[in-house]
Amino acid sequence: MMNEVIKVEVVSKEDLEEIVELHCKIFRNYFLKNLGFELVKKYYQAYDDDKGTIFLKASYNNEIVGFVLTTSNYSNIIKNFYKDNFYLLSKKIVIETLKMNKTIFLGLKSRVMNVFKKSKEENVEEEENCLLSIAIDDNFRGKKIADVLINKVEMQLKENQVKAYSLSVKKDNTGAKKFYEKIGFEKIGGKGELEYYTKKLNFRKEE
Ligand SMILES: CC(C)(COP(=O)(O)OP(=O)(O)OC[C@H]1O[C@@H](n2cnc3c(N)ncnc32)[C@H](O)[C@@H]1OP(=O)(O)O)[C@@H](O)C(=O)NCCC(=O)NCCS
Repeated sequence: MMNEVIKVEVVSKEDLEEIVELHCKIFRNYFLKNLGFELVKKYYQAYDDDKGTIFLKASYNNEIVGFVLTTSNYSNIIKNFYKDNFYLLSKKIVIETLKMNKTIFLGLKSRVMNVFKKSKEENVEEEENCLLSIAIDDNFRGKKIADVLINKVEMQLKENQVKAYSLSVKKDNTGAKKFYEKIGFEKIGGKGELEYYTKKLNFRKEE
């Protein structure tokens, strides 16, 4: 019954603040959330107008209760995000150092530095599509909303002739890992606190 009133639509500029609020509420202990509302908003803005990005929201009574974001252009987008927000990010590094917030200081420092380090030796292989975020409000979990969002994403990916897409997930996020396995992702490796998964998209014969 719930699915009848859940609407799935493309995220627009006007939705961004609500998405960021939901992101910060759901991903309380994640690195990105520690950057603060304004930077998280800039992070999601960085996907605006990108042709390889699929950004969908699920709403109930006009309230956003979930979203999903995939892209084929992650390394460019993230590089530009770090470059465009270098000043704000550097300020954050200094503030967090003063506050002795080791996690965010080290996380940020290595990420910002990598952007400048890597650009020379970059390989130009075609980039994979990746699932960057999927999140459903606590009160709306277990109602197949993520399933519906993923189905829409995969329809779009197949239309774009994408054959597979991948993701990384924190090792200790057992709920999300079960969800990914349920919808057909297979584990392909891991490093540090992350595990990597991929899913092949099946095309019907006539496609
Ligand atoms: C993971 C998440 C997106 C799933 O959303 P959801 O709308 O509750 O999932 P669905 O109801 O569509 O579930 C689809 C299937 O996955 C299974 N599943 C979903 N969450 C599960 C969990 N925590 N544990 C076990 N199975 C789970 C469901 O049982 C269902 O299986 P079924 O077809 O046999 O019924 C949601 O729990 C969430 O937002 N988690 C926090 C954010 C997060 O960690 N995102 C991933 C970051 S990498």
